[in-house]
Amino acid sequence: MSTRDTDRDAVIKVARGATLFTPWALRAAVTLGLPDLVAGGVDDLADLARRSGADVGALRRLVRYLVLLEVFRAPAADRVELGELGAVLCSGHPAGLAKALDQREAFARRGDEAIASLPEAVRTGKSVWTGLFGRGFWDDLAADAVLGRSFDAAMAAHAATLGPEVARRYDWSGVRHVTDVGGGTGHVLAAVLTAHPGLTGTLVDLPATVGAADPVLRAAGVADRVTVAGGSFFEPLPGGTDVCLLANILHDWPDEDAVTILRRCRAAVVAGGQVVLVERVLDEVPAAGDDPGQFVASQRDLAMLLLLDAAERTEAQFARLGREAGLRPGGVVGLLPEQGLFLVCFDVG
Ligand SMILES: C[S@@+](CC[C@H](N)C(=O)[O-])C[C@H]1O[C@@H](n2cnc3c(N)ncnc32)[C@H](O)[C@@H]1O
Repeated sequence: MSTRDTDRDAVIKVARGATLFTPWALRAAVTLGLPDLVAGGVDDLADLARRSGADVGALRRLVRYLVLLEVFRAPAADRVELGELGAVLCSGHPAGLAKALDQREAFARRGDEAIASLPEAVRTGKSVWTGLFGRGFWDDLAADAVLGRSFDAAMAAHAATLGPEVARRYDWSGVRHVTDVGGGTGHVLAAVLTAHPGLTGTLVDLPATVGAADPVLRAAGVADRVTVAGGSFFEPLPGGTDVCLLANILHDWPDEDAVTILRRCRAAVVAGGQVVLVERVLDEVPAAGDDPGQFVASQRDLAMLLLLDAAERTEAQFARLGREAGLRPGGVVGLLPEQGLFLVCFDVG
């Protein structure tokens, strides 16, 4: 390959990676409900425009781009069907991508807006949320009920995949009671208790969030095995539990706060029990390549900077936090490696 060819390939690769048209075409598709409509059998472009409330000429142009992205196929002029990647953009897909892209969701809109401030965040090393929206991240969710519900729904969407994996991958034998700390509206806990009928659980999260847990726990048929405890994980937690589960919690907090949360968990767990994190684990040294887990973990790491002054961590960083909280590293287990997610376990006692 000549230098000119290599250079041309590099230009194409960088230009494709840099264009905002791909992420925004995907968002436009989901926000207009196109993948769901096409999956439901709408295959005529004019009909698709009518049902999605779009201008037919403009929609034709969007669909052209989405065909290039393999979201749709065009078997004939003005005909459309789902392409190879279309199904994952449908609202019912367990990966929950549609919810994260849908601009009707207040949380998705704000998160997308924050990304444009990445240069500023990298310059200052600080979250941009307060500067953009007038309040810190958690205060914003607490003050704006629509935003708070949208955030909880985004968490619930990803929990659809996460919960069953936590139930399957962790060794629950010998565990009688699990406390899901920062467990949101209870989707992960519900999946764990559904898979392990002998287990009981406690759900801890902020009062407004656990206030919406009852229908989730009832729908899963586990409400009678769960105690719901509205409160902060910076305060003492209900004691006497075998396992404290912290799914996607420590990455929201800087080190000092993370150690405080771990200390609260250590105090709540019986001797011989465990504190179990569900977290993305960054490679110690980054390397170019196609590892999807490291892509997601690195993207989430930047998101934590933008949103919360927080970070994803390496295994060594988790071990250090655990030791500071008086915990012993108890092993790391792959959970959803393609999303960079692992179970990081600590022994108590
Ligand atoms: C990233 S979400 C993770 C939710 C859930 N564990 C999951 O993986 O789907 C973080 C959770 O921490 C909760 N949270 C934030 N601050 C909290 C606090 N001080 N005490 C208890 N929960 C808190 C939020 O309400 C939210 O449900």
